[in-house]
Amino acid sequence: MRLKTIAANWKMNNDEKETTDLLSELLIHIPSGAQKIILAPSFVHLNTALQATYNSAIEVAAQNMHHKVSGAYTGEVSIKMLKSIGVQNVILGHSERRTLFNETDDVIFEKVKLALEFGIKVIFCFGESLEERESNNHFKTIEKQLSKLLDLSTNDWEKIYLAYEPVWAIGTGKTASPEQAQEMHAYIRKILADKYGEELSEDVSILYGGSVKPNNAKELFSQPDVDGGLIGGASLVVGDFLDIVNAV
Ligand code: PGA
Repeated sequence: MRLKTIAANWKMNNDEKETTDLLSELLIHIPSGAQKIILAPSFVHLNTALQATYNSAIEVAAQNMHHKVSGAYTGEVSIKMLKSIGVQNVILGHSERRTLFNETDDVIFEKVKLALEFGIKVIFCFGESLEERESNNHFKTIEKQLSKLLDLSTNDWEKIYLAYEPVWAIGTGKTASPEQAQEMHAYIRKILADKYGEELSEDVSILYGGSVKPNNAKELFSQPDVDGGLIGGASLVVGDFLDIVNAV
């Protein structure tokens, strides 16, 4: 049975005080319902978020990690560091990492394997560009981005969330229609079913990301294969994020 999951990607926003304020508001208001909540602050605020959510059902995610365990990589953060402070999840393959920081499918897959080795759950992001959708290549793009993951074992999939995020919808205010999201999510589930069988494919949570807002969340989340969302901009506004959480 898949739990509906709402993950907040705070990206490079909020200083210490803004983070603490946002966390305390959320902790007061988030209902202890059936949905799973994951918060992804910057590296700097992971500890603050872990302390604030200690003893709650809310989990914390890092927004990235390096693909090596340790070494001379000035400015980078390793999986070992994340594990040692108690981070439970990591977002990998976000389109901003792919496009702005040139992360390739190969490097992202190295990170995925490392996170799984350390027992950290992965929120694996992927999605097509506007050009790829308009030229009707979106299914092909998604297949390519997912192809390496199909080498993973059945057990590995217990620790993976997929997050379909069409690049043209991220931070643009343009959202995939509920029908477009459902079509792609069903397609992704079929890829998993063909490789691993129906049972596993039914257990993997597939989140939608890209301009999820209070006014479109309910319709998106009510699609049978949309198991929640990865929320950027709207997750920084307490009222909006709570409305999205309550739309599940
Ligand atoms: P957005 O971001 O909700 O601001 O579009 C989503 C994401 O980047 O994960």
